[in-house]
Parts: sequence; structure tokens; C-alpha cells
Amino acid sequence: MESSTPLFLRNLWYYALPTQQLKPGRLVAKTLLNEPILFGRQRTGEAFALRDVCPHRAVPLSCGQFDGKAVECCYHGWRFDPTGRCTAIPSLTDGQKVNLERFQVEAYPVQEQQGNIWIYMRDRARPPKAEPNIEMAVPTVPGFVGKSHQGMEAMSFPCYVDHAVVGLMDPAHVPFVHRSWWWRDAPELSEEVKAFDPSPYGFTMREHPLVNQTLFYRLVGKSPTVEISFQLPGVRIERVTTAQHQVCNLTAITPISESETEVTTLFYSTIPWFSALMPLLKPFVRKFLNQDRDMVVKQQIGLRTQPKLLLIRDADTQARWYYRLKREFAQSVAASRPFVNPVSEQILRWRS
Ligand code: FES
Ligand SMILES: [Fe+2]
Repeated sequence: MESSTPLFLRNLWYYALPTQQLKPGRLVAKTLLNEPILFGRQRTGEAFALRDVCPHRAVPLSCGQFDGKAVECCYHGWRFDPTGRCTAIPSLTDGQKVNLERFQVEAYPVQEQQGNIWIYMRDRARPPKAEPNIEMAVPTVPGFVGKSHQGMEAMSFPCYVDHAVVGLMDPAHVPFVHRSWWWRDAPELSEEVKAFDPSPYGFTMREHPLVNQTLFYRLVGKSPTVEISFQLPGVRIERVTTAQHQVCNLTAITPISESETEVTTLFYSTIPWFSALMPLLKPFVRKFLNQDRDMVVKQQIGLRTQPKLLLIRDADTQARWYYRLKREFAQSVAASRPFVNPVSEQILRWRS
């Protein structure tokens, strides 16, 4: 973690959970960025998020009841609507007048699209001028507006968010870490030359032919091309296009705490049989994610000695950009000024 940037970036949309995990009339409690959050879905279908702490005497609201309209705390039965407004205090007698507006639970903006719920984690000391920051849209998988994913996998990594993000954009580890007969079986390195452009709150590896085709992409269609974009706080969208189809993978990284990070990977496809294939693909996706996770576990052993880490040119340039994007974003929030993307167009070369 860099000393000039806060532990977690604020005034950003973070991936919270997939739509299917939050059924109408239900609650889900989840810690994100060290904050206990209660997600709920009204009977009418709308999702909401509240701080999972009762303002009365701090019992988690998630321990209480939800009737699809209001959350009732299990300790003294205070009720809160999905905007966090207190609507009832059962202990009050008829004559007792209390302004219930004083007992507000913090509500978080949420947005649901493409089968996912995103949450806006504002900086309480420096909230954006328009709230939530309207300039920043929730990450969208291109070509799948109004559609949901056909497969997903989520995994908890025992590390600080940066190590998970850097692993996601690190091309040099692939031949060593993801060594499998179905992906790549031996580290025969080849030279890669890739063009990058700045893109909103991140950068994009320009669309190019996919040469090192894996078994999976041979199934997708002829002459595939790939484009990979990254944006803060930790969202990578890979888009593979063939003459016939499109397969997209969105990977979102959300900090749970300073030592735990959730990695969620979601698949979108125009292939009609993709959903049927997903149960077969799932073990491979899990194995792939686990390979990254295992490396993070090993890395934690060395990190205990608090070494200074190295980032070399080209192979680690994307990781350098990530740190620069983070720093610039934090500074723009601190100074209440617009974000200026520090990445400029560049060609990177490495062997992987
Ligand atoms: S602690 Fe929640 S109602 Fe008292
Ligand atoms: Fe990896």
C-alpha cells in the first residue's frame, strides 16, 4: 500500500454481489471496505443498502426482521425503511413526540445492472459534488446492455486489494502460474507487443488478434480478437469477439478488509449453448482463480518482512499505471477537483 493514498479509494462504485444472491423480501449482510453493510430487496424488487448497525444501541440490523418494506431491529423493534429513515419506535407512548428523523441509518447508493449490484462508497469527509458522482458510471459490459451473466465465480483472497488487482493485470505470471494442460502446459515464452490507450478511470489494451488460443476460445469461433480494459477501483473487462460470437469476462475486485479481498468473475456470451456449458467450465474457472489465490497466499509469507516491491518497465507497467491511477484519484478527491487520467497511449513489450 502506498503511503500517499488512503487504505481504500472512496467516491467510487464497487462490485457488491450478484443479483441472484438477493431475493425479494430478503436481506444479505456483507462487509465491504471494513464497513458492515446490509443489502436488502423490497418486495417490489428494488435493492437497497444500509449501514448494518442500529443507531439505537448498535445491534446489527441484519439480526432483525424484514417484511419486504422495513427492517425491524431485533433488540427494541425500531423500524427503518429502505432509505434508512426510522419509521417506528415501539416503546413510545401516544403522547410522546419524538422526531424520528434524528435516527437515520446511513443509506448507500446502489445500482443494479447486467445481473449485478454495485454500491457507491462515498468519502464522508469529501462527498462528490453530485452524489453519486454522475461522471462515473457503473462498469458496463459492452454489447450486453439489459442482459445478465451466464456464469460466475467468486473467491476470497487473503490479501490487501492491491495484490489482487496487480495480479489481475500482470502478464508475466501467466506462463508460470496458470500452467495446465487446458490452458498452457509449458512456459514457452513468446514476445508480446501490445498497444494501450487511456480509457475512463483506467486504460485499455487495444483490440488485437488472439494468437495464443486456448482450447476454450477455439470453441468460440474463427479469428478471435481480444480487447481488455481496466478501470478503478479494480474492474477488468475482457471482450473476445469472433466472426460469430462475443464472450466477455468481467472481473471485479472488492476489498472486504485490509487483509481480505473478494474477486468475482462473471461471464457474458452471445453463444446460445454457453449457459449449458457453464457447469463444465466452472471447475476450470475455479482452478484458474485458485492458482492466482495460491500465489497470493505464498506472497503473504514474504510480505510479512515488509519489503519494498519492484515494478519493472513494460511487464509491470500496467501495475505502475494502477498505482498512478489510484494516487491521482485519491488526490482528485482530496482536492475536490476533476480526475485527470495519468495514462497516455503507449506500446508495451514483454515475454509471456
Ligand atoms: S438496538 Fe436496535 S432498536 Fe435498540
Ligand atoms: Fe492470474
